[in-house]
Amino acid sequence: MARETWATRVGFILAAAGSAVGLGNIWRFPWVTADNGGSAFLAVYLGIVLLVGVPGLLAEFVVGRRGKKSPVGALRDLSGSRGWGLWGVFYVITAIALLSFYSVVGGWILRYFGESASGLVGAPPAYFAAPGQYFGGVAAGPDAFGFHLLFLALTALVVLGGVRRGIELGTKVMMPAVLVLLVGLAVWAGARPGAAAAYAFYLAFDVATVRANFFDVLGPAAGQALFTLSLGAGTMITYASYIDEDRSLPFDATVIAALNTLVGVLAGLVVFPLLFSLGVDPAQTSPGPGALFVGLAGAFAQLPGGVVIATAFFGVVVLAALSSSISMLEIPVSFLVDEYGLGRRRAVALVAAGVVATGGLCAFNPTIAGTAVFGFVAGPLVDTLLTVGLIAVLLFVGWVMGRDALAELRSGAGGPSAAVATPWLLAVGAVLPVFLVFTLLTTVG
Ligand code: PHE
Ligand code: NA
Repeated sequence: MARETWATRVGFILAAAGSAVGLGNIWRFPWVTADNGGSAFLAVYLGIVLLVGVPGLLAEFVVGRRGKKSPVGALRDLSGSRGWGLWGVFYVITAIALLSFYSVVGGWILRYFGESASGLVGAPPAYFAAPGQYFGGVAAGPDAFGFHLLFLALTALVVLGGVRRGIELGTKVMMPAVLVLLVGLAVWAGARPGAAAAYAFYLAFDVATVRANFFDVLGPAAGQALFTLSLGAGTMITYASYIDEDRSLPFDATVIAALNTLVGVLAGLVVFPLLFSLGVDPAQTSPGPGALFVGLAGAFAQLPGGVVIATAFFGVVVLAALSSSISMLEIPVSFLVDEYGLGRRRAVALVAAGVVATGGLCAFNPTIAGTAVFGFVAGPLVDTLLTVGLIAVLLFVGWVMGRDALAELRSGAGGPSAAVATPWLLAVGAVLPVFLVFTLLTTVG
């Protein structure tokens, strides 16, 4: 059977943007930011998105579009080396680690969504905010496991539909819905009392803090930048492998990075005015993964029309999460299909069965060797895997593909001139890997 391709250019852009836009923008970003010193973190993070993110996206696109296989087959065929093929398995493992915790958080959101629509907001706000109360029951244990299964099933359902009728069709509906709803929510939130103070808090830029903490925030900021753009996981290699027409990759990469940033900014414009209007200080809400939910659920509970707003908000988050989780599942699935000739159905069933178990570990969240599994997987583990994964792709493009990478980048209508493409290859082959190794070392040290 011929390998599937995207039906349209817009289809590819929306699928890739759908992968990028996700829990990283709405859920992970605020708590990682809060845990790492706020505005100093933000500045470094934005710099990395621009200087590492866009060239990094292009590196994965070049490998995918030229290789026309899953990361395993693409790296092997383009290098003619089985060693690189073996390295490709690293991305399959990363994808499974990602999906394991992502599906658990997706489950929390599904639950908040369902309960919002059916009157969750009737409970007193103190109930949501009290530690160990509402969120404590949602976050870990049998309930968390059950909702993880539900979210995983939804993810599998889309991926079962294949590239065109599953992923492309799904993201073509999900992405516009996310954008429209978020803009509506941001406009509504802007009219809340206290919105001005919220904007000031959110957008405050403090040079002194950036200077003082630069090296401390480098690692987490790089991790978040890669996470939010779906870089280093092999997702963008996989999605680009389904492109069949030649067109300007830099244009696509820029649109995808811009959409991802736009959604992050919009989410902040919704969340912070909401919290401020109710006198919740975002810096004071409990740090860590629960921060957003505890504060927000309590906020919705106090609002006039809170049911509608809460339902719309969690609806947005469900769609954003789903359009990302499908891109994670597609990596191991494409690997099994390309390398072992498995049918899509079998491949999806096999991977999903594995993630039921690995996600279960995140859902029950035992403490192993003094470390709670969920927080470890969702933070340091994933950050490290993505950074190492991207370094390898960059080195591959710079040193193994070399001229071929330049040719691939430049091919297609409106492709960049050599004057633009050559510095890109230099950055990808040398500057960015050195920088990323440095961020890794600051994390370890
Ligand atoms: N970019 C997604 C988000 O922001 C997460 C993701 C990471 C998706 C890696 C695919 C691969 O939520
Ligand atoms: Na993102």
